[in-house]
Amino acid sequence: MKKVLVATEKPFAKAAVNQIKEVFDNAGYETVMLEKYTDKNDFINAVADVDGVIIRSDKATKEVLDAAKNLKVIVRAGAGYDNIDLEAATANNICAMNTPGQNSNAVAELAIGMMVYQARKHFTPTAGTELKGKKIGIHAYGNVGKYVAAIAKGFGMEVYAFDPFVEKAVIEADGVKVVDSAEELYSICNYISLHIPANEKTKGSINYDLLMKMPAGATLVNTARKEVICEEGLKKVFAEREDFFYTSDIAPICADELIENYEARCYFTPKKMGAQTAEANINAGIAAATQIVNFLEKGDSTFQVN
Ligand code: 3PG
Repeated sequence: MKKVLVATEKPFAKAAVNQIKEVFDNAGYETVMLEKYTDKNDFINAVADVDGVIIRSDKATKEVLDAAKNLKVIVRAGAGYDNIDLEAATANNICAMNTPGQNSNAVAELAIGMMVYQARKHFTPTAGTELKGKKIGIHAYGNVGKYVAAIAKGFGMEVYAFDPFVEKAVIEADGVKVVDSAEELYSICNYISLHIPANEKTKGSINYDLLMKMPAGATLVNTARKEVICEEGLKKVFAEREDFFYTSDIAPICADELIENYEARCYFTPKKMGAQTAEANINAGIAAATQIVNFLEKGDSTFQVN
């Protein structure tokens, strides 16, 4: 009997877990759950004899993948796969996949919610501002960026985007204005919503120079990855500009320092929660389970990332 592990330090909603189990039950697989673990050794021990694994932001390091002697496929139920050591996966002949698009709406709704929260002074009675009529820049027009653009239009915002990997016509077809560089996007927009992945090219790329280009009263919203921000640059911008705001679903390492000094100008969720809705958990969880079964039964490697 094939065995699959669902290793989620931040568990899926119960309804998603039930539906994941159902997919594996129907395939005749045994499902092992490892939820809310705090010791990476629990993950290392749990992968030892399984054929497939579903993770979220859990770190599939070389140590984990080397210990997974029977593992053939690992699926990141979500978009970003920067938490999987792809080289180690390939070296161990493990297929690594993600489930693009399945949790995107949840992340997009949170991004907009965080903008409202910041614009309305952290939900205090102090007079805030409205999103209507403001310019929003979508930095990377992928699945999440697309949803953010659609919702922002509903709010009456003027939507701009920069993404060198998406054809201009595709973005323009959504009624979004395309700009030619990140510098231009940041110079124009009152809000920037970040949706770039974390990789060697993007890490630290949202830096002092770029942030200083933003107009007075601008807000940066990060529901992507904390690593894409240059934190030294971010701290310098906060120190030099009283009109700069930052809100993120992935607290920076310097979060406490920022909160202590500039509480009204920043907000960080207590724990990354962009994709934490029942709908997103169900969509991404079922997709991940189905991809595992299709890979193990038919060799279907759609969405392979290594
Ligand atoms: C993703 O990459 O899909 C999101 O960052 C969601 O991550 P999570 O599954 O850890 O909530």
